[in-house]
Amino acid sequence: MYEIRPEQPEDAPLVEALYDRVFGPGRERKVSYRYREGIPPVRELCAVSVVEGTPVAAVRFWPVRLDGIPALLLGPLAVEPELQGRGIGRMLVADRLVHARALGFRLVFLVGDPAYYARFGFRPVPEGIVMPGEDPKRLQWRILRPGPLPRHGEILRADGTSILPAPAPRAAGRTADAAAP
Ligand SMILES: CC(C)(COP(=O)(O)OP(=O)(O)OC[C@H]1O[C@@H](n2cnc3c(N)ncnc32)[C@H](O)[C@@H]1OP(=O)(O)O)[C@@H](O)C(=O)NCCC(=O)NCCS
Repeated sequence: MYEIRPEQPEDAPLVEALYDRVFGPGRERKVSYRYREGIPPVRELCAVSVVEGTPVAAVRFWPVRLDGIPALLLGPLAVEPELQGRGIGRMLVADRLVHARALGFRLVFLVGDPAYYARFGFRPVPEGIVMPGEDPKRLQWRILRPGPLPRHGEILRADGTSILPAPAPRAAGRTADAAAP
């Protein structure tokens, strides 16, 4: 049997090692990591599944925004390879979505395989909603609470910034005259 409990600071090395094993080195080059740099996760929702005291699965959530609405980015989600396919991932995600709703969140995004996440009610986002650089077919959302929602826009970091590099500032005072030799 296993239990689900909040991730504690001392779990972090085990959780990071699990993510490295499951996703491989280079995982932090994924677009979704640009939403996590310098922004703390939503600690109330980050959780591990524990067997005999050892975390064997983990999921984390980061805050993001869509058109001013606070939302969540689910991931990474990973289950220890030799324990996959036993319902551990399903229980962990289902449990966390209940908590996310109870915390008042309306929307959860993720980038993943639609064939897996459809069982939790995730659906492809409307065409106009974008995560720059990400495969639109893998970008999904789960609506936790009814109400009007935007049908287009870029998913932004929690601090309101885009993950796209800011445009280079135009050189001050650079007019045709100033530029002339
Ligand atoms: C994906 C993952 C989290 C699922 O957790 P799990 O505990 O192994 O899965 P569960 O036992 O809850 O569910 C098993 C079901 O999911 C399906 N499934 C597992 N991975 C899948 C995938 N990538 N795509 C589609 N279906 C998948 C299984 O076929 C099985 O289907 P069934 O219920 O119809 O028999 C886990 O397998 C894992 O860590 N995989 C590698 C990392 C990963 O892909 N993470 C998700 C990032 S998008």
